[in-house]
Amino acid sequence: MAHQKVLVLDFGGQYNQLIARRVRECGVYCEVKPYTTPLDNLKAMDPIGIIFTGGPNSVYAPNSPRVDLAIFDWGVPILGICYGCQLLAHSLGGKVTAAQGDSAREYGKTETFYDTSCKLFQNLPVEGVSWMSHGDYMEKVPEGFSLVAHSKACPNVAICDEKRGFYGVQFHPEVNHTENGTEMIRSFLYKVCKAKGDWTMEDYKESAIRLLREKVGSGRVLLALSGGVDSSVAAALMAEAVGNQLTCVFVDHGLMRLHEGDEVEEAFGKWKVNFVRANAEELFLSKLAGITEPEQKRKIIGEEFIRVFEAEAKKIGRVDYLVQGTIYPDVIESGTGDAAVIKSHHNVGGLPAHVDFREIIEPLRLLFKDEVRQLGRELGLPEYLVRRQPFPGPGLAIRVIGEITREKLDILRLADFIFRDEIAKAHLEDSMDQYFAVLTNLRSVGVMGDGRTYEYAIALRSVTTSDFMTADWTRIPYDVLDRVSVRIVNEAPHINRVLYDITSKPPATVEFE
Ligand code: XMP
Repeated sequence: MAHQKVLVLDFGGQYNQLIARRVRECGVYCEVKPYTTPLDNLKAMDPIGIIFTGGPNSVYAPNSPRVDLAIFDWGVPILGICYGCQLLAHSLGGKVTAAQGDSAREYGKTETFYDTSCKLFQNLPVEGVSWMSHGDYMEKVPEGFSLVAHSKACPNVAICDEKRGFYGVQFHPEVNHTENGTEMIRSFLYKVCKAKGDWTMEDYKESAIRLLREKVGSGRVLLALSGGVDSSVAAALMAEAVGNQLTCVFVDHGLMRLHEGDEVEEAFGKWKVNFVRANAEELFLSKLAGITEPEQKRKIIGEEFIRVFEAEAKKIGRVDYLVQGTIYPDVIESGTGDAAVIKSHHNVGGLPAHVDFREIIEPLRLLFKDEVRQLGRELGLPEYLVRRQPFPGPGLAIRVIGEITREKLDILRLADFIFRDEIAKAHLEDSMDQYFAVLTNLRSVGVMGDGRTYEYAIALRSVTTSDFMTADWTRIPYDVLDRVSVRIVNEAPHINRVLYDITSKPPATVEFE
């Protein structure tokens, strides 16, 4: 059965996949398409609604992205967000100009007032915080449109022409900071586009399996398995799709947590998949010797991963595809299109230029972490695996700040184990999404047994987040932190100080490097 579909027309904004994700969350199938897609192709997809995304341009700039004006005669409902809203206004005879001074230019959380007779805002509070990020301003609203939201600085925050089903909002309803933003998107889908809510994760699974089968055909596939949630879900999906044509390769790079390599081998050894453990500690540590710069560490690890996979592929014989469990936040933070590079995730920006596989397949590339977990459940993975906290591919290499040595890794492994052990004993695992220890290269003076020490400081990090794009530090009870601290300085060698990181993301990131 064909599902109802909403198309997100991409004008280059940073939250485009987040819009798609919100639509999926509301139970409606959704695809992101470039704004240049010809109108006839859009029509052939028969969507029930279209969303214009934000973007970095100004609609009055000479070469700014436009749409075929005939789109407005088609009769399909349209929601314009930020740039999309301005484009809607501009295209239909309104006027958009640069905001004069700071008065109508808005960035960040903004108190906003809604007209709740508009379908988008019905049954929602009349006042709430919305997330703005625009320097332009709708000076004149097109004919037939009403103003349905304003802020203190700006009278034209949302517009609509309910007869034609056209809506525009200057703010970003898709980001968590906008109160009731998802509800506004839901209203557009259900009240304006008349969605039935006929799309589920089970459908996603079925169509992903079908597409993967078509793509791989009779080819052989090697999957990079780390034992974490993403690669395990990718493995389960591929196993359903291509069964015996799949071999999962777990590279033990010597940068895993305490006993982790053996645990992964034990868990996956029991699965009905071809599983290989490649022990490559010597190789990775020798390549990383003396390297202190985080991006360089990541590139080296990305390169060596691929080289080990290539070597394993040769042992298997012919391998056509390499599969990775890359998820959307990895892609966006490694920089795509206009987005800035925050850090090169080993499986994206860290990849070497030449790769000896026909193609790399990333079946989770458009999903966010919690969607991946949902898919894992749909595939029947055990709850302990689906709920595992994420562990980065470069492992402890990006948690030993500065130069990596085996001795430092051993110290960190022990401190990290103690932290996780105390969190488990206090039954706090469910209140945090990722928690770990970091070996800083800060050395400081302490006193132990009447003597002076000059040793390393361990930093503890714990974050609470839904999508890892933004995160808050976890309020761990002091008595738990105290037990962790006492145990670490007593049990782990060369540590005389324990710090707790109280920075959210942004401005920090989850990992230190
Ligand atoms: P950051 O530090 O970018 O982390 O705020 C966000 C999430 O991504 C994980 N992370 C990685 N995962 N390869 C991965 O597979 C990487 O290179 C990488 N770097 C960060 C991090 O642990 C957190 O969950």
